[in-house]
Amino acid sequence: MSALDVERVICRCEEITLGEIRKAIKEGARDVDAVKRMTRAGMGLCQNKTCYNLIVRIIHEEAGVELSKLKPFTVRPPVRPVPVKCWRRE
Ligand code: FES
Repeated sequence: MSALDVERVICRCEEITLGEIRKAIKEGARDVDAVKRMTRAGMGLCQNKTCYNLIVRIIHEEAGVELSKLKPFTVRPPVRPVPVKCWRRE
């Protein structure tokens, strides 16, 4: 693996590189949620729409996990404040 490969950005939103994802896999990550927890890959603005397939492929190649056994990220929609208005009956 060349230095360029290690520095290749896989998750553009969080600027997570191939080297960081490979390190997480070496440290025991065996699914996309574990990679997400260890690196923040997939937690960016696009909510993994861009990087998901790349991360799955890297886990498959590095850890030998079958593609059919890799489940999608757990979905956690962003929480947004909701304005509250007080209504009075008169
Ligand atoms: S590219 Fe990974 S969350 Fe957007």
